[in-house]
Amino acid sequence: MVHIRAMTKTDASTVSRLLGQSWRRTYSPILGDETAAQLSDDRHAPQKLAAELEDDNKMSFVAERPDGSIAGYAMAEMDDRGDVTLNRLHVEPQEFGSGLAVDLLHAVLAAHAGIPSIALEVIEGNDRAIAFYRKHGFEVVEHRPAAHGVAGHASLIMRRLLPRA
Ligand SMILES: CC(C)(COP(=O)(O)OP(=O)(O)OC[C@H]1O[C@@H](n2cnc3c(N)ncnc32)[C@H](O)[C@@H]1OP(=O)(O)O)[C@@H](O)C(=O)NCCC(=O)NCCS
Repeated sequence: MVHIRAMTKTDASTVSRLLGQSWRRTYSPILGDETAAQLSDDRHAPQKLAAELEDDNKMSFVAERPDGSIAGYAMAEMDDRGDVTLNRLHVEPQEFGSGLAVDLLHAVLAAHAGIPSIALEVIEGNDRAIAFYRKHGFEVVEHRPAAHGVAGHASLIMRRLLPRA
């Protein structure tokens, strides 16, 4: 059984490695090897991930296997207006299709009970992720052209409306 829990500082190096590998695997074919590696190295250094844990507006979760290894990670951020964005959702490829990604998504939603919707930005061409989000109720609400997307690449903003309790 994989267990979802809040990320702690001791997870930072492992999560940094997971993100580095996931970014290279997912985005190299779209952004190119160099850009994918550089963006991930810039954004996902262990000390940056650890610092995010101090930010009350950000919530980070990991999925831990019984042997202590980390199989997935998610991070969501709330802005000043209370709008929540799922900033990161990554699972190890061995877990693709296992339901772990949706468990992480549900942990994020449970931690933000009462919000009317949740949004995210996904790079165009990341078709597996887009299919996953559609399957879980997200709809495209904005097409961002390359100039306003991610690293000069077009992106989609997707949003899922959540039922009022
Ligand atoms: C995105 C991610 C979290 C989704 O988790 P997952 O376990 O792979 O998702 P699922 O298998 O439940 O759903 C993916 C769906 O896409 C489908 N799919 C796979 N490759 C596809 C492709 N190239 N084009 C379209 N659909 C595709 C799968 O068949 C599946 O649909 P199905 O359940 O109807 O068969 C995971 O793939 C991941 O970590 N990817 C790398 C990181 C990433 O891209 N994160 C998102 C950043 S915004």
